[in-house]
Amino acid sequence: MLGSGFISDFYANAILSKRHPESIAVVQSRTLEKAQAFAKKFGISVATDSIQEAVSNENIDVVIIGLPNHQHEEAVQAAAEAGKAVLCTKPLGRNAEEALRMLKIVEEAGVFHGYLEDLVYTPKALKTVETIKAGAMGRILWTRSRETHPGPHSDWFWNKELAGGGAIVDLACHCIELGRNYIGKDEKPLEVFCWADTQVKPIDAEDHAIGLIKYGSGAISQFEVSWAFRGGLDLRDEVMGTEGTVWINHFLRTGFEMFTAPGSSGYVAEKAESDSGWIFPVGDELQELGYNHMFVDMFNAIDNGTAPLETFYDGYIVNAVMDAAYRSAESGRWEPVKLDVWRGKQPGEGKAGKQIDYDEHHILIKEELLPNGVKKVILKEKATGRILQKTI
Ligand SMILES: NC(=O)c1ccc[n+]([C@@H]2O[C@H](COP(=O)([O-])OP(=O)(O)OC[C@H]3O[C@@H](n4cnc5c(N)ncnc54)[C@H](O)[C@@H]3O)[C@@H](O)[C@H]2O)c1
Repeated sequence: MLGSGFISDFYANAILSKRHPESIAVVQSRTLEKAQAFAKKFGISVATDSIQEAVSNENIDVVIIGLPNHQHEEAVQAAAEAGKAVLCTKPLGRNAEEALRMLKIVEEAGVFHGYLEDLVYTPKALKTVETIKAGAMGRILWTRSRETHPGPHSDWFWNKELAGGGAIVDLACHCIELGRNYIGKDEKPLEVFCWADTQVKPIDAEDHAIGLIKYGSGAISQFEVSWAFRGGLDLRDEVMGTEGTVWINHFLRTGFEMFTAPGSSGYVAEKAESDSGWIFPVGDELQELGYNHMFVDMFNAIDNGTAPLETFYDGYIVNAVMDAAYRSAESGRWEPVKLDVWRGKQPGEGKAGKQIDYDEHHILIKEELLPNGVKKVILKEKATGRILQKTI
């Protein structure tokens, strides 16, 4: 485990909580003191302040990177050189150039690589993707994903150079990958339109952004992110298909609402702003945030010699989309997603909508049962293109 901060804690709890056969053998942190405290908490036998020493320990098969964004590449390089499987947290890189280098490092070294994008592993997202793949939503037209909270918990996130940006690089990476999973990861992201601004915090990076991503299938995917939202961690997705709709609330309003006058005196859920009054706890955070399913998929894939659901390639695509979002926020125009590596479909494949014939001369646009019991159909005349209506 490289890093002993916020995310390493979640990862260690997920890995060790469900009686997995895996164990954590080594933890590395910036200071030996912090590494030792983490090791004590999780029963880890080796604590070190050296990345090199950690990755070359002979008792480990897998390196998990939970370091700040500017240290991902160095850690990937060290793990790949040591011949270890490598799992890296989000965002993969601070930009696509960095992410592509990391993809090349692991592919050239021939080591297993997994992109730790937990939110596509939430039970709700997994069920949604399964339902979409079964055809129950028809063709996906539009997705919307929102992640907003009152801002990150460590200094380096707020430093544009170390983090690679602000709320986009920190939060939109989740939203973009959720959108890709719903739309189909083999659909090419073509261009991005993005508004970003620093509305609240005294920082150089953006603390708010909204973006639109056009895909090769014609689908559009929307992200909405904030580092100044009040009221906790708001994680919501919407999917609209030609045959169905999904609305997901992952976290803040999951159907579990609690009132406590004196307060629960402590941690309620990630980024919760209050522990008294009406509160919105989360029954099993590791599960609801996808961490358990994510590590099961990663370790199963390592055991079976297969690819996990999320790889460094996916991390690279997400970085390329975010780069286009930053360019668009600057230029005020749609900006192309620049992909040196693309392994999916070409734009336009499968784009045509399904046409339903009403009769020999007409195409059905819509039918509706009106309040007076009359059924009405809206039709398009094939020969002339004229739109007309009929009541039945
Ligand atoms: N849902 C998620 O998947 C999720 C959530 C939070 C964070 N993350 C990612 O995990 C990574 C680490 O984030 P975190 O929240 O654990 O951060 P953190 O600040 O809580 O922990 C960072 C860790 O890296 C170490 N470190 C080494 N060099 C450092 C430096 N120069 N500055 C600061 N810390 C340094 C710290 O000692 C600490 O152990 C980031 O890439 C972040 O984007 C992912």
